[in-house]
Amino acid sequence: MQTIEFSCPIIDRESINDQTVVLTLEAPVIAQTAYPGQFVNLASNQFLRRPIGIMNADSKKGSIQLGIRVSGEGTRFLAGQKKGDIVSLLGPLGRGFHLEGARRVITVGGGTGVFPLYFVQKVCQTRGLEGIAVCGYKSRKDSLLTDQYEALTCQTLFASETDDDMDFSGHAVAALADLLLKLKPVPETMILTCGPETMMASVAALAKKHGISCQVSLEERMACGIGVCLVCACKIKQGDEQESEYQRCCTEGPVFNAEVVEWQI
Ligand SMILES: Cc1cc2nc3c(=O)[nH]c(=O)nc-3n(C[C@H](O)[C@H](O)[C@H](O)COP(=O)(O)OP(=O)(O)OC[C@H]3O[C@@H](n4cnc5c(N)ncnc54)[C@H](O)[C@@H]3O)c2cc1C
Ligand code: FES
Repeated sequence: MQTIEFSCPIIDRESINDQTVVLTLEAPVIAQTAYPGQFVNLASNQFLRRPIGIMNADSKKGSIQLGIRVSGEGTRFLAGQKKGDIVSLLGPLGRGFHLEGARRVITVGGGTGVFPLYFVQKVCQTRGLEGIAVCGYKSRKDSLLTDQYEALTCQTLFASETDDDMDFSGHAVAALADLLLKLKPVPETMILTCGPETMMASVAALAKKHGISCQVSLEERMACGIGVCLVCACKIKQGDEQESEYQRCCTEGPVFNAEVVEWQI
């Protein structure tokens, strides 16, 4: 599909905490075509656009939602936009998650990774797939989207590294390990993960140990977002796993099968 630049009015802005907002944008074309794991590249007050995963797409309302956490000047500018402001964006970009053939989909999100994985669980609900959402937070105070996940049909498992009043006390990877020991195996299970690279590498290792296929969404730094500048090159293993080559995270990814990713940690 041809990538087009859109000027999208902000139709809603919800402040989640002092660092994080969810923006709802009028973007009918993107809302029709986007699928989970894809992203948009937004103009900000910085020279380069900033990539943000699509958190939700409502084709009937013609809107998309983006969860944005402030990490620098570009995201600060975007998070500070108000209802009625117009945002320029390119999208939907990249290759997202493949859900074909799945009966059970376990998502494992850490930090802002819970935003794009919400879209996964929403689509699982629409398709009647069994969904389990593992969401890892530093603390209850940092938790994101818990109400929104609970409103879906998926089972939820909220983990907190510092508080013991959520579903699981500890890291999201430990929560997944615990879950996999208790779950009755279903052959067509997939694990999809998004978040810090160390977390995704551990999730991938755990999935491999249990013989479950795993897809990861990489967050390389990006510039053009459309495959031209090569800023987002990431190392991907080839067939025999001895050789690797660079691929463009924005175009061949950001979602890859976990087995082909050469982790940089
Ligand atoms: C495919 C993709 C999807 C993303 N989805 C989301 C999302 O849903 N919500 C969200 O809040 N953020 C998301 N990000 C991260 C977001 O793009 C960065 O936080 C943003 O580009 C930082 O820009 P800045 O100007 O605010 O900060 P900068 O000053 O450019 O950077 C601030 C800090 O963030 C780090 N950083 C910069 N770019 C990235 C990046 N691509 N990934 C991880 N760390 C980065 C820098 O190393 C630095 O430490 C996503 C990134 C990618 C590649
Ligand atoms: S960001 Fe330019 S090629 Fe990927």
